[in-house]
Amino acid sequence: MEIKEKVREKYGEAALRVNSGGSSCCGSAPSMRNCVDPITSKLYDSSQTGDIPEEAVRASLGCGNPTALAELKPGETVLDLGSGGGIDVLLSAKRVGPAGKVYGLDMTDEMLALARENQRKSGIENVEFLKGEIERIPLPDNSVDVIISNCVINLSADKQRVLGEAHRVLKSGGRLAVSDVVTRGEVPPEVRQSMLLWVGCIAGALDEHEYVRMLAKAGFKSIGIEPTRVYDIEDARQFLVGEGIDVDAIAPQVNGKFMSAFVRATKPQNERTCCGPVCCEG
Ligand SMILES: C[S@@+](CC[C@H](N)C(=O)[O-])C[C@H]1O[C@@H](n2cnc3c(N)ncnc32)[C@H](O)[C@@H]1O
Repeated sequence: MEIKEKVREKYGEAALRVNSGGSSCCGSAPSMRNCVDPITSKLYDSSQTGDIPEEAVRASLGCGNPTALAELKPGETVLDLGSGGGIDVLLSAKRVGPAGKVYGLDMTDEMLALARENQRKSGIENVEFLKGEIERIPLPDNSVDVIISNCVINLSADKQRVLGEAHRVLKSGGRLAVSDVVTRGEVPPEVRQSMLLWVGCIAGALDEHEYVRMLAKAGFKSIGIEPTRVYDIEDARQFLVGEGIDVDAIAPQVNGKFMSAFVRATKPQNERTCCGPVCCEG
């Protein structure tokens, strides 16, 4: 609960900063008005965001561009876990078109208010923002074609539960297409903690093999993790020096080990939900 409350507080503050004309950056450079950090910057090109409200773009706190990689099709139902200011929800809504629907799920009131205001400004209608937690998704079983998420699962203290919930709400053959921060290989705990503080507001990234193991345990198949940006010590130097860390000493333990990645997985076809002696859905 303590982690969740801290996360909620940080992202509530980030949403209010956007409302007052600032940038949402909350991990690496909270005080900078127009912070450009190597994780959240330049994720979208202007051809994608041209007709999305400026506040949605400024509120972007992701670490990838899941909508560009998710291969969304007209008519699909999409769920964005931790939708923030709504940028990926609005981009997805354009992809699935009026016959499709996109849900954004977030637990932070200020982010939901910002997202709903961005939806209103965009005029996009096939969107609904839901208040709730990704550990308890407020949607029925087998109701979603695609789950996207952008730099949120790493924030959860119960990632196995999040992945289990994602599997539950996906239809048979449904896809998970998520951008997230992952780590690769051995990292001493204290170095890990410093780097993850830099990465975001109280991040708790998984090692890539652990992520695969948890996805498989939740029932997913066709699992893949592809790095999209690999960070090195120079990306984090300013922040780490400010924290009093001897950056050159830890450099060999950092380089190549922290990355944003695209995580994909599928809920197998024809997996039947048995709600009694008779299986009722398949
Ligand atoms: C790093 S921001 C990403 C926002 C958005 N996906 C983007 O790309 O801009 C994390 C968002 O996830 C939300 N969040 C974090 N943990 C959550 C949880 N356990 N349940 C629901 N929302 C959560 C926060 O309120 C915040 O809006």
